Amino acid sequence: MSRKILVTSALPYANGAIHLGHLVEYIQTDIWVRFQKMSGNECWYVCADDTHGTPIMLRAEKEGITPEQLIERVHGEHFRDFSGFLVGFDNYHSTHSPENRECANDIYGKLKAAGLIDTRTIEQYYDPVKQMFLPDRFIKGECPKCGAKDQYGDNCESCGAAYAPTDLISPYSAVSGAKPELRNSEHYFFKLSDPRCEAFLRQYTARDNGVLQPEAANKMQEWLGAAGENKLTDWDISRDAPYFGFEIPDAPGKYFYVWLDAPIGYMGSFRNLCAKQGLDFNEFFKADSQTELYHFIGKDILYFHALFWPAELQHAGYRTPTKIFAHGFLTVDGAKMSKSRGTFITAGSFLKTGLNPEWLRYYFAAKLSATMEDIDLNFEDFCARVNSDLVGKYVNIASRSAGFIAKRFNGELAPADASLPAIKAIQEAAPRIAELYEAREFAKAMREIMALTDIANQYVDSVKPWELAKQEGKDVELHAACSNALNLFRLLTVLLKPILPVVAGKVEKFMNIAPLNWGDTQGLLAAGHAINAYEHLMTRVDPKLIEKLVETNKESLAPAVNPENSQKSAESQQRHAQHQQNEVKAESPWEPFCNIDDFMKVDLRIARIANAEHVEGADKLVRLTLDIGNNETRNVFAGIKSAYDPAQLVGRLTVMVANLAPRKMKFGMSEGMVLAASDTTGTTPGIFLLSPDSGAQPGMRVK
Ligand code: 2FM
Ligand code: ZN
Repeated sequence: MSRKILVTSALPYANGAIHLGHLVEYIQTDIWVRFQKMSGNECWYVCADDTHGTPIMLRAEKEGITPEQLIERVHGEHFRDFSGFLVGFDNYHSTHSPENRECANDIYGKLKAAGLIDTRTIEQYYDPVKQMFLPDRFIKGECPKCGAKDQYGDNCESCGAAYAPTDLISPYSAVSGAKPELRNSEHYFFKLSDPRCEAFLRQYTARDNGVLQPEAANKMQEWLGAAGENKLTDWDISRDAPYFGFEIPDAPGKYFYVWLDAPIGYMGSFRNLCAKQGLDFNEFFKADSQTELYHFIGKDILYFHALFWPAELQHAGYRTPTKIFAHGFLTVDGAKMSKSRGTFITAGSFLKTGLNPEWLRYYFAAKLSATMEDIDLNFEDFCARVNSDLVGKYVNIASRSAGFIAKRFNGELAPADASLPAIKAIQEAAPRIAELYEAREFAKAMREIMALTDIANQYVDSVKPWELAKQEGKDVELHAACSNALNLFRLLTVLLKPILPVVAGKVEKFMNIAPLNWGDTQGLLAAGHAINAYEHLMTRVDPKLIEKLVETNKESLAPAVNPENSQKSAESQQRHAQHQQNEVKAESPWEPFCNIDDFMKVDLRIARIANAEHVEGADKLVRLTLDIGNNETRNVFAGIKSAYDPAQLVGRLTVMVANLAPRKMKFGMSEGMVLAASDTTGTTPGIFLLSPDSGAQPGMRVK
């Protein structure tokens, strides 16, 4: 009987670009979902953007747009990236949706009715300039243990110590730089320490209950404490205004904390899908549901998914997750992804550079297991594996046989030899490989599939179609050899289809067959079946592309300093992505701060534009001669041609950086930079040169 399955991946934050670290999870989930669908199960895959919280509110403010505009733009970017990597969500929604608000209010109301919501006054740091309470990660100062400067309010990245923000020495707000004040505020708590939650969670997370991987279950026992020693603490689920999120229904000015409505976002997205598809939401979420619910997550967010989330569901009268699948982190060439090394690679840059997403899907599959171990993307290994396994072994079977069928046999196949050992080997292995897919042991599945591919190639090598083709009177043998090879290729394609959906689609097209399902591993193509012209399936990885990719990700960090390239830098600026952390990081939009000494290093002067002219051959540049007093002039190339007619600039005052190192450009030396405002979001495009108030004279210092 077909199973009914609902699957989720963690909801990515709406303030960062999707990167390869994220993709481990989405590709892992997508492969599993595709396998379920191919096996005839009713399987729904939902996800959404995680849109609430302080960082998103501050980022939108910095960009001069509303949070709603920001999350809408990011939703488009995320969806484009996921689609680019062939992640086939049935629904990609948003936590800022009416469905999610309804689900959050409903769960909160039920927990409250069950006596599991409490209020408590807490003392918290408040930013008097920004007029907001500061999350721990938005307070910085000196580590109380080792004295390291600029450490976050919850732990020191230098010595690893954990502490409360009030322990920091000389704390300052990461938002405004102001000295924070301690103020009282009433917060709402989910009573996780309640004996009902403890009793439920002990049973739910127990090793033999099978919901969690063994290593995750062990971790939970640590967090729960020994029997009789309840280590669970209540969970602060509210935040004060100003906050971007859902206001708590009976608590004006208080908002649900982002982590409260994020897992609920799974429900919200599914509710939205139910409306679109006519599905029964209750069938999937009622307490005694017979359907299955699986959450794929990173190991860093286990606490939320294995403790808070099931406890909320259970006590609000809903079903709990069938299993929670946690995976490890991604390292690149053996180290943490790094922006300076260019290994913090965005999904968009991977696609833009021209790398094939199915290469990465295969590589990740070849590395993934059911454990929480980290996986490494080693670029040399990546090229070698893709080129050898996919192109050298798998595609090679079709490319060595399809042409002869078309040219010599009118595209029609001879009967396949069902007793051929290579065919039998694949058919016998298929159920075993299905078990490996089901168990998320993708690396083991890939090893088996490649061993079968080797066997298929050995068959082709033994019958040598290219030699038969040259010999007189060998048509029958050639026809049989190529038909067997194509049948082998079709069987292998079924096994690889969850990983390579695009290639499988091309194979279905050139073989002229219906979409392949898992059951097709047991059948063969009928004699006389006519195939279409062979279509090129996959190219080899060119290592130069990898070099380019790494370079691109290095370049994208260049700061936007000069109006000449401000547009370009703004577009390619790396956005913060922090999936691999268990708390929203204080990526304050204003950090890193520069102190007054840093600022004073920049010598800003009033300049009179003595002359301005077009630069022949330059699309964007205007050549300015700047008078900066004391009979000194500077030659500066400014990227302002799109906004100004040089003639109108002559005589006006502006501000320049006078001590910028001279730079040799194609058109001559540029001896400074003029300052201009520009809009990076596209709502008010343009470049706006700065002007001083009247009275300022060339050469005056600006500070
Ligand atoms: O860690 C993260 O990226 C969070 N945005 C994940 C949320 S997953 C779930 F709870 F929705
Ligand atoms: Zn320290």
